[in-house]
Amino acid sequence: MNATIDNKVAGALELKDLCKSFGSGLSYTPVLHKAHFEARRGELLMLVGPSGCGKTTLLSILAGTLHADEGEVNVLGHPLHALSESQRTAFRSKHLGFIFQQFNLIPTIDVAENVSVPLLIQGLGNREARRRAVAMLERVGLGKRAHEKPLKLSGGEQQRVAIARALVHNPPLVLCDEPTSALDSENGVAVMELLREAANEPGRTVIVVTHDPRIYHYADRMAEMEDGRIFRVLSGAEEIRTHHPAF
Ligand SMILES: Nc1ncnc2c1ncn2[C@@H]1O[C@H](COP(=O)(O)OP(=O)(O)OP(=O)(O)O)[C@@H](O)[C@H]1O
Ligand SMILES: [Mg+2]
Repeated sequence: MNATIDNKVAGALELKDLCKSFGSGLSYTPVLHKAHFEARRGELLMLVGPSGCGKTTLLSILAGTLHADEGEVNVLGHPLHALSESQRTAFRSKHLGFIFQQFNLIPTIDVAENVSVPLLIQGLGNREARRRAVAMLERVGLGKRAHEKPLKLSGGEQQRVAIARALVHNPPLVLCDEPTSALDSENGVAVMELLREAANEPGRTVIVVTHDPRIYHYADRMAEMEDGRIFRVLSGAEEIRTHHPAF
């Protein structure tokens, strides 16, 4: 195996020279300008930067829900920039778990059914999907709440359900957009402990977009973004603390 192929296998994802803008004419908004970004297998990488700098845009491109104007998006050996819409949908259902700031649970179905969704999309039968969903809920400490509707749960519990849903199909890539910002300190810690544990599983990459310095110490590396590109990557708690002493 030559070095180039070897790197592609070892690297979880790489974005090269990414450009993205929205609108046209007076509403033209350039967001990403030749952004370069990479994340490795087995790491929890935090993506930080001021509001509006393009973090959610970059995460959506990684998830394949938004198409870049220019650049390459290689995720787990798949060139997302070159895939069709249906190929990207198939990629997402197999390889990706996504956790949002506002949980995004379906209010009309119970907690276990919410967690089952990724398995049903993959074609698993109802009964087996529910069995696995309940087992996953037990891992996040919510096995006893499986029959309840999401809105009966607290914000912290709902976010743990969202984590169970993101992990139930064992995806190698987990993307989280400000997963703790709607939570108090205690629930934020519980959520980060689960994400940290998820990142420790072999071959998995967890990317967390955050504004929350209380959770910076959970990162293996931190990519800092400004004006549409990553301008610095910090490695390890010590380097992160040096540049962000408040945490
Ligand atoms: N669908 C869209 N149409 C037009 N403009 C958009 C769209 N999505 C994002 N933008 C603009 O792109 C810029 C970056 O948005 P983005 O949501 O990626 O920022 P962010 O870094 O996630 O911010 P925050 O920390 O506030 O969540 C903003 O100026 C935003 O208004
Ligand atoms: Mg955002």
